[in-house]
Amino acid sequence: MRNASRAARREGKRLGFVPTMGALHEGHLSLVRAARAACGIVAASIFVNPTQFGPNEDLAKYPRSFERDRKLLEEEGVELLFAPPVEEMYPAGAVTWVTVEELSGKLDGRSRPGHLRGVTTIVSKLFHVVEPDVAFFGQKDAAQVAIIRHMVRDLKFPVEIVVCPIVREADGLAMSSRNAYLDPEQRRQALVLHRTLMLVKELVDRGERRAATLVAAAREEFTREPAVRLDYFEIVDAGSLDPVEDVSSGALVAVAAYVGTTRLIDNVVLPCNSRAQS
Ligand code: PAJ
Repeated sequence: MRNASRAARREGKRLGFVPTMGALHEGHLSLVRAARAACGIVAASIFVNPTQFGPNEDLAKYPRSFERDRKLLEEEGVELLFAPPVEEMYPAGAVTWVTVEELSGKLDGRSRPGHLRGVTTIVSKLFHVVEPDVAFFGQKDAAQVAIIRHMVRDLKFPVEIVVCPIVREADGLAMSSRNAYLDPEQRRQALVLHRTLMLVKELVDRGERRAATLVAAAREEFTREPAVRLDYFEIVDAGSLDPVEDVSSGALVAVAAYVGTTRLIDNVVLPCNSRAQS
């Protein structure tokens, strides 16, 4: 992978990189298209990273569809695909971690101990192997975006980070590889995440600025879908992930909830001093 990447960059091509765990959907492909549009050569990775899954999480059953994914990436014009075995990324005896202190314990990092450390560690390794000029991430995983930006800044990775908007199903559900776990009833119940974010956006559009009031309204909306268990609903600064009291300067509204045993996340960014956008 590194030889191929260096050969392309020697020809003066800008290398765009899209890291994924496979089971590709339109959300992933939107990142590939953004990379394709901005870069002379595009690399993608498919690696279900064991260290970002907790002991009771879905590592074993995480959807895997390598041949289908490979074809999709080829159709999108991806030149380089990196899909290493686990032993290559974590050789026997590997004990080195990349931890972004503070941030790694917030939002998803709080509910899923070790998750964000697993993400920053594997993304560091992937950056070292692929050596991209630009890497593309989805806003869908807002805590991941914040922590990777911080890591790149702190460790001086020579990589530009581009963040792409959330791609949704027609009814608003954010696309996710984990949506495949939902049965039809749960698929309907899962809409409460997006519905609640839209409610908050609407309240902000109508002039509400107090985060506590917005969070209370959101929690109330969740009680209407009792089968869905709220993990967190928070209004935070998009960079530090610390709660804000007032949304006037912009904020990240982030939600995580369990539909059955499936954990889903979603978010919306409230812009600074203006009306919210979708
Ligand atoms: P994965 O969940 O496969 O997602 C790969 C990339 O696709 C991430 O940047 C994610 O934010 C983006 N993505 C997923 N759903 C999206 C949607 N509906 N709209 C826009 N972008 C979407 O995130 C990971 O893998 C891993 O943590 C990884 C970064 C690969 C490290 O293992």
